Amino acid sequence: MRANIVASVDIPEFDEKKIAKSMETMPVEAGFRVIITDSQTKVFYDSYTEGGYTGKLLVYAPVTEVLINNTNTSSFYSVDGEWIVEAAVPVIKGGNTIGSVLVTSSGDDVDGLISRITLSILIFGIIIILFVFALGVFVATVLTNPIVKLTTFIKDMPKDKLQKCDLVSRDEVGDLVTAFNELIDWVDELEEKRRAFVSDASHELKTPLSIIKLLSDSLIQTPHPDPQFVKEFLNDMGAEVERLTRIVERLLDLTRMDQTSRMKQEFTSVCEIAQEVYEKLMPLAENKEISFTLTKPDDDVLIPIDRDSITESVYNIADNSIKYTEDGGTVKMEVMRDLGNILIRISDTGIGIPKDEVQKIFDRFYRVDKARARDTGGTGLGLSIAMDAVKLHGGYIEVSSEEEKGSTFTIVLPYDSESAMPVSVVENIENPENLLTEE
Ligand SMILES: Nc1ncnc2c1ncn2[C@@H]1O[C@H](COP(=O)(O)OP(=O)(O)OP(=O)(O)O)[C@@H](O)[C@H]1O
Ligand SMILES: [Mg+2]
Repeated sequence: MRANIVASVDIPEFDEKKIAKSMETMPVEAGFRVIITDSQTKVFYDSYTEGGYTGKLLVYAPVTEVLINNTNTSSFYSVDGEWIVEAAVPVIKGGNTIGSVLVTSSGDDVDGLISRITLSILIFGIIIILFVFALGVFVATVLTNPIVKLTTFIKDMPKDKLQKCDLVSRDEVGDLVTAFNELIDWVDELEEKRRAFVSDASHELKTPLSIIKLLSDSLIQTPHPDPQFVKEFLNDMGAEVERLTRIVERLLDLTRMDQTSRMKQEFTSVCEIAQEVYEKLMPLAENKEISFTLTKPDDDVLIPIDRDSITESVYNIADNSIKYTEDGGTVKMEVMRDLGNILIRISDTGIGIPKDEVQKIFDRFYRVDKARARDTGGTGLGLSIAMDAVKLHGGYIEVSSEEEKGSTFTIVLPYDSESAMPVSVVENIENPENLLTEE
């Protein structure tokens, strides 16, 4: 660089004296040596006045290389532990090389320069590290602050009184707060349902118990009861005990339904289930002189379902139809199959359900006519259990009903022709029920 500056000093003629003179005005820093030669390597300027090369031929590789090849050279080497930086450039006039400039600098200065650069890099590095650290702390604080607030809010929230968080944030923390608040809503809703269920269940269990207590009290208080009267009372008490047992059984069914993991899937024929229910209910239908029929498709298939819960669902619905149909009526059971579903349709010519109550009949403990339900022994849980079971199989129950005309319930179970098996295939397998059993 310095050699270039010297070489580009504009002197109209290559006049040794003029050059030497103009070089005197150029400041040469301590530790630097400038040598200028003509094209024959004769030195006519050397910044070292004492013991310098002025007037001598300098046959030195960097100088001769520059003069012959017309290119710049530079090198960095050490002599006796002292670092030397050396650069040589040609002096060109009118396209001809008319001389050369050689600049050397002693090592002390280079060492100083290196240590200054090292120190600068070190200081600069430390400043960058401190800056990045401070920026990191700042960003982390800004980011974690809302999370810390939310965590503190959740920790401090009384566990018996869940509250929504009103923290406002437009980033992911805001989404987290929204999700948290939705969770609180959901838990509140569940808690509300649980309370209603416990209160309904207690009420349902209390009623038969109160009746039993009433009957037993009046028996105790009657001094010499008529044996016929005692028998009647005991009969009534037995009926209430039966009702109590039924409610408890239903409640246990519901709990089982809540634990999906207890569902045991096995290849089952829906036609077989319908046949089983039909045979069980036939005596009830005969008692009421109800015409009870079952129709099934010719080609039966097996689908993976929990046999017990689906049997219970079909039984509940068919039992309702017989229960809520006057003597001499008609109840029809049909098993059908379309492309994606297996349908079990149960229709009756019974009392029907008022329009505004049709959807409520699936609620737990709901009965359209409570007084009548008492006579029939209904708990109001049958349909709710049936719906839970069918839903767990990915299906649903459809209802259409008209008061005094009758009702039609359809259980729709999804049927995937790929996972279903024709009966003929399963008949050749030793234990078909083991094919899909999940514990
Ligand atoms: N086929 C039907 N015809 C008319 N009303 C019905 C019919 N099926 C159900 N209901 C009405 O829906 C109510 C709820 O039915 P659900 O099966 O849940 O309870 P339940 O039959 O009263 O009791 P449980 O099933 O324990 O014997 C019944 O009380 C009845 O009022
Ligand atoms: Mg029922």
